[in-house]
Amino acid sequence: MKDFFQEARKINIAEMQHITYNEWLPIVLGPDYMSELDILPINYGYNNKYDAKVNPTITNVFATAAFRFGHTLVQGLLDMVEEVHYERKKTTMVPLSDLFFNPDLLYTPGNLDKFLIGLATQPRQKYDNLFSEELTNHLFQGKNKSFGLDLVALNLQRGRDHGLPGYNAFRELCGLTRATDFDQFNDFIPVHIVERFKLIYAHVDDVDLFIAGISEQPVAGAILGPTFQCLVGDQFKRLQHGDRFYYDNAVNPGKFTEEQLGQLRKSNLARVHCDNGDKVTLMQPLAFRNPTAINPLVPCDAITIPKIDLYAWKEGYHGHPHHGHHGHHAHHPHHAPHPHHAAPYHHAPTVYHHAQVTPATYHHTPVTTAPYHHTPASPIHPTVYHPVVNKAKTSAPYSAIAPLTIAHGSSGYSYSSIGGHNNGYGPVVAAPAQHRFHHLGK
Ligand code: HEM
Repeated sequence: MKDFFQEARKINIAEMQHITYNEWLPIVLGPDYMSELDILPINYGYNNKYDAKVNPTITNVFATAAFRFGHTLVQGLLDMVEEVHYERKKTTMVPLSDLFFNPDLLYTPGNLDKFLIGLATQPRQKYDNLFSEELTNHLFQGKNKSFGLDLVALNLQRGRDHGLPGYNAFRELCGLTRATDFDQFNDFIPVHIVERFKLIYAHVDDVDLFIAGISEQPVAGAILGPTFQCLVGDQFKRLQHGDRFYYDNAVNPGKFTEEQLGQLRKSNLARVHCDNGDKVTLMQPLAFRNPTAINPLVPCDAITIPKIDLYAWKEGYHGHPHHGHHGHHAHHPHHAPHPHHAAPYHHAPTVYHHAQVTPATYHHTPVTTAPYHHTPASPIHPTVYHPVVNKAKTSAPYSAIAPLTIAHGSSGYSYSSIGGHNNGYGPVVAAPAQHRFHHLGK
């Protein structure tokens, strides 16, 4: 290996991408929506999803509102949890405001593990319009002061500061009905919250995206409601499809071998905790989920917390001779010896039923073939992103062959319609989901 740092960095990025798309996004967006977007990880070989026309940069709305959804999940009191006789025991609780700009507690020997295990044990807060007061009254509170900043106020002001359109505009963008009356927000936002909006805002178009977004009821199988699901999903699709260096992308100029990919697809958050704590010995295999009877604490060396084997990176290793999905690992004379080869890498039994894959893509912004030379920075180009239905302007080309379709499922709103490309040639057909955002980057 000529350059250990670069290779280690690549591996780290790949693991982070894999864990994000394989373990985290399915919880946030729901596997069904990920499948519609075609961003679920693949199990073998290389992915062919790279599209030079997709702009992978971060959208204003993602950074300034949608991805801040995480703020509603934050706990104000952090549990510190210890391992005692193969069980977890809570020792203390620390208010978040004690920790702003103050890492002292983490530096105290033993405490890193208590925080890590605490994070793997304590549930998140509910996804709703309620936030911990540690964030809304005590953010960055100074020592011996009784109040601090308000994160939700910052979010709303930042949205205006960045010139974000209101919630209503993004509903339309995402294929929900654009409201003309506050009560039309009741489709996804509880009535009592809409009533508050009526008191605060003069017009439906004034409602700030952040607060309305986190007030939407989650879509079944996801954490997010439909508007944030659409905006966050769009970004993660860009980060995967628009990134030449995405870890398993076939045209990645520095791609891993298939065997290396097989190993990288074993990476998982439980392993990260086990390996990075000072003395963490137990973990639940699905570390983003609470420990339960079906996700029980197991010793860190259990096979249900897979380990990456670096044999495929060894100098002189040229890949397995019987390469193939059902290949059997016989040792080739000049291969670096590989200790436990019972299972061929591709079948690495990960615990996750849903697939696998990736995005800390921002570090490797496409340097060259640059999607963004020929793409307007704004992903959300109104003419492109047009919602669709009933826009039969002409009798044009493909209205004849393709009848106007409303989203499959028709659950009251059709957000498969947002990929529709109303270019003035006629009614738009609900685009197949994987093409939904296709136009955005152009
Ligand atoms: C203890 C937990 C957290 C604290 C104290 C915190 C605090 C903050 C603060 C102070 C800002 C800058 C606000 C502004 O002036 O506009 C910010 C921005 C942001 N936060 Fe958080 N946050 C936390 C957790 C999270 C989580 C869990 C997520 C997402 C899952 C998240 C996503 C974001 C994003 C996307 C931004 C905008 C970043 C940028 O564009 O510069 N935060 N957060």
